[in-house]
Amino acid sequence: MLEKKMEKAINEQINWELYSSYLYFSMASYFDSVNLKGFSSWMRIQAMEEQTHVKRFYDFVTARGGRVILSAIKAPPSEWKSALAVFEETLEHEQVVTGRINDLMDLSLKLKDHATSSFLTWFVDEQVEEEESADEVLQSLKLNENNPGGLFMIDKELGARSFVPPADITV
Ligand code: FEO
Repeated sequence: MLEKKMEKAINEQINWELYSSYLYFSMASYFDSVNLKGFSSWMRIQAMEEQTHVKRFYDFVTARGGRVILSAIKAPPSEWKSALAVFEETLEHEQVVTGRINDLMDLSLKLKDHATSSFLTWFVDEQVEEEESADEVLQSLKLNENNPGGLFMIDKELGARSFVPPADITV
């Protein structure tokens, strides 16, 4: 059984994961508006991945006899001044998420809730990847800051990403 304190903290994280998905869909829409279709596709996949994070938390809360309570999701920004600005915000956002996952882990350890600590390990590892992939694109954009041809090459590369639903997550 999940302690109420832990349940509440995970429900707050579910809201953050939903906000992440919202934010990335908004970024996708910005990229569509400036005709960077590859960037848009990459962001839409990122938004879908965030929804699988929601599902992972949802299933865990339910399996532990808790209740998922959804709350209002704040509106994300809708305009950015460049692709670089978008990826600066993406990396900053993922760093905040990493901090939140670490706080959840700290709480689970404090409560001696070993099942939750074990579950959260997946997210600790995932955040390494999340930060790395955002930073990779950010660094490419910085290298090509004054090179429009480079921007279109990155757009092409990002457009090749495909969404692979995790095998252990069902609808
Ligand atoms: Fe759900 Fe991008 O972390």
